[in-house]
Amino acid sequence: METFKAFRVHTIDGKPVCKFEQLTMEQIDPGPVVIRTAFSAITYKDAMAARGVGKNVRTDRPCVTGVDLSGVVVTSEDERFKEGDQVVVTNYQLGTQHDGAYADYARVPAEWIVPLPPGLSLYEAMGLGTSGLTAALAVDRFEKAGLTPSDGPVAVTGASGGVGSLAVNMLAGKGYEVVAISGKADQTEFLKAIGASRVLARDEFMKDKSPLVSSPPFAGALDNVGGAMLDRLAANLMPHGKVAVAGMVGVEMTTTVLPLVLRSIDILGINVSRQLKMPERRRLWERMGSDLKPRDFDKICRPIPFSELDNTMDSFFKVSSVGRVVVEVGSKAPR
Ligand SMILES: NC(=O)c1ccc[n+]([C@@H]2O[C@H](COP(=O)([O-])OP(=O)(O)OC[C@H]3O[C@@H](n4cnc5c(N)ncnc54)[C@H](OP(=O)(O)O)[C@@H]3O)[C@@H](O)[C@H]2O)c1
Repeated sequence: METFKAFRVHTIDGKPVCKFEQLTMEQIDPGPVVIRTAFSAITYKDAMAARGVGKNVRTDRPCVTGVDLSGVVVTSEDERFKEGDQVVVTNYQLGTQHDGAYADYARVPAEWIVPLPPGLSLYEAMGLGTSGLTAALAVDRFEKAGLTPSDGPVAVTGASGGVGSLAVNMLAGKGYEVVAISGKADQTEFLKAIGASRVLARDEFMKDKSPLVSSPPFAGALDNVGGAMLDRLAANLMPHGKVAVAGMVGVEMTTTVLPLVLRSIDILGINVSRQLKMPERRRLWERMGSDLKPRDFDKICRPIPFSELDNTMDSFFKVSSVGRVVVEVGSKAPR
């Protein structure tokens, strides 16, 4: 019987143990559409699953992890897809409750699948993945809320991370003046190269504790951090400013309603999990292949061979990861 390579997390005595294994098709979770995986990526959610942080992965039986997948349909029992279709799957239960992207094959429900949009390769799709979808949803919501480049600068926090770097690039591509806020002093040149007009050191930005900064510099902000950072961003927004909240690095916050009320600030919650309905998901993927397509994939995305997956996970906990890490799962997948 044919076997293929997979990276699974087992829970042994309550602790996660990750292994590369040879599996048969019958050993991965069933689904009507069989996809040969070309590329995946690493997100913070994948690192959590592999290291048992936050208990986001099933523990009753092993799970192939990997929440982002691009690949080619091998067989389909669902009429919406056929052999040879190029497709993308991100999130739903992939890689946490249902065997995911870190294997040569995945079997998934048709309802989770997005056709690869025109303008993107399978490699570029994983340069985007969940992080790109998050950044694109934030830009889309800014636009719907009426934020335009002429309103003033837009801040992006956690700017060197996956969501942050793609958002910097997408916003700059749409003509916004982007101010990157980052804890990584050594990534200033990178952030400018992908579209930031200025880079602020996170610690410096956090120093001023006033509830209403007297000359607020930002018309908009995308917060990939949360917690105290969101409080500081609210205080730094101009009247009618918009803040898109995506990150949960910090969850709890103490703040004041003063900027929200006195400066009429809009808070836009960003969620690309299953709550993001399929028509909206497809529309955003199409935008990522056209007007929101990052101009600097090569600077933002770093490909790694499948064999390097385990070693690379820990950079996400050390906050040393920069941009997007694309995993070359399918050995014959062209970039
Ligand atoms: N809302 C959604 O649907 C959705 C979807 C995907 C991800 N997310 C969330 O969005 C956030 C970013 O995701 P990602 O994939 O971009 O993660 P990532 O690549 O790990 O980037 C996170 C960035 O946040 C900054 N950061 C990390 N720890 C920090 C800390 N303790 N205090 C302040 N800043 C810190 C760092 O940027 P700097 O060093 O440049 O400051 C880091 O690179 C995560 O919280 C993730 O859970 C949300």
